[in-house]
Amino acid sequence: MIGVVSNELHATSFQRVARSRPAHRRGGHTSLGASPSTPNEVPARDQARLRQSFILIGLGWTAAVCISLGWVLSDEWSDAVALARQSAITAYEKDTLYRRWNSEHGGVYVPVTKDTRPNPALQSLPERDIETPSGRQLTLVNHAYMIRQVYEMNPNGPEGRLVSLTPINPKNSPDPWESEALRSFSAGRKESDAVQVMNGQRRLRLVRPLVLEGACIRCHAAQGHREGDIYGGMSITLAMAPYEAGARAGMVAALIGHAGLWLVGLTGIFLAWHSLRERMLERQQAMVALADALGDKAVLLQELQHRVKNNLQVISSLLNLEADSLPDAAQGPLRMCVRRVQSMALIHNQLYGKEDLGRLDFGEYAKGLTSDLFQAYCVRSEVVRLRLDLDPILLDVKQAIPCGLILNELLTNSLKYAFPGGRAGEILVALHCQDNGLVSLRVADNGVGLPPGFDWKQSKSLGLRIVNILASQLNGTVRNEAEGGADFTLTFAKQTV
Ligand code: HEC
Repeated sequence: MIGVVSNELHATSFQRVARSRPAHRRGGHTSLGASPSTPNEVPARDQARLRQSFILIGLGWTAAVCISLGWVLSDEWSDAVALARQSAITAYEKDTLYRRWNSEHGGVYVPVTKDTRPNPALQSLPERDIETPSGRQLTLVNHAYMIRQVYEMNPNGPEGRLVSLTPINPKNSPDPWESEALRSFSAGRKESDAVQVMNGQRRLRLVRPLVLEGACIRCHAAQGHREGDIYGGMSITLAMAPYEAGARAGMVAALIGHAGLWLVGLTGIFLAWHSLRERMLERQQAMVALADALGDKAVLLQELQHRVKNNLQVISSLLNLEADSLPDAAQGPLRMCVRRVQSMALIHNQLYGKEDLGRLDFGEYAKGLTSDLFQAYCVRSEVVRLRLDLDPILLDVKQAIPCGLILNELLTNSLKYAFPGGRAGEILVALHCQDNGLVSLRVADNGVGLPPGFDWKQSKSLGLRIVNILASQLNGTVRNEAEGGADFTLTFAKQTV
């Protein structure tokens, strides 16, 4: 019979442990990962997030390199334009000097040739054409004519010419861009420049205004102009090709440099991502292993609790069988032992299946134990009323066991002796945590009370001796404040783990 009981209990134990295993593994990860995901989902999600961050960093780096390259390229281009403009200004200044030299001499005489004909525009001047004593024909060449002829000598070089909105010579008429520039000079502008595509070539154009000085009036007074008037301008046009070639070399160098920089940066970002990912994987693996280990430990502890409870039940079964074989009068002490063992088994029973394996709610336990004892002693609740006033107090197993045994003894005492012969009354079980942190457990009844002059501390009763011994184990005190009936209060300091 004992064998049957024992095997049955073990079989149940294994089934329950086997069933509880996966649940605990899940439980372990839940508390660690703070999310209901499985261990494989968490790393996958974290890694996707890491990859996303690094893709963003890579894109940011690419954008930064592109911006820098764009900036350098546009700088190279504006450098080329500035250089071309500087050359145009140099040409303008040199032309102006030569022109002024010519004008200050009122023009210069050159031999009349096939290409240099007497200028009809100077017809009004008295000595436009002269003859040397040897009979050579000379004609006066003004500044505009000279400049035109000089530039015609080099058709591939820069072009320079004089322009005016009201030209004496229609050849000096401005094109639309020059007209625009000339008009802007009367509004106070000092220079106009632009890069334009002309005849399929990019060219830099520059126009600066010309102001009539004293020497100019001699020939230009006929048009009604006065000294100080702006009269047209000098227009220079340069091919951009040589300057672009210089810029292009700089641009290629910048492009190669930036591409190299971009690649180095990208490699660095990739390596950083790689090593972070490795570290993350290692950490996640360690966490999974830790969670597994914790889960295993929890399962083991659960199993232990269950075994302890089962063994206590086997012991109580054995004691019960032993008691059965004795004459009725001698059974009492053994039955009492059975109760004590069962009150301990109840603690392990309550611990089993709980998340927190080391502690239990003693209030809940006290409720279970009182109802067990009322049943065991066949006390009818309408005769002896039970009043429970229990706070939910978490106790460590080390304290819960002696405390549970004390409750068992005090309650048994009340149930057995306080209400003899069907006497009615009330039993109070109260559990409180006081303001000073002490826990008090009170068991009181309004029964017949202890015999007069009874010193319970000196009592030979096993139950009360157990109460005394266990109270001192708890470093606590037990007081009896009975005035008719029994009223025991156990007070002890709660152990904080
Ligand atoms: C010797 C006479 C002479 C003097 C001095 C002279 N010019 Fe002229 N200039 C001309 C003639 C003639 C033309 C037009 C014919 C041509 O293109 O050859 C002309 C053309 C110009 C033009 C081009 C527009 C046009 O009318 O065809 C400008 C601009 C101009 N002169 C400015 C000046 C300035 C400024 C000075 C003084 C620094 C000056 N000239 C001195 C005779 C002169």
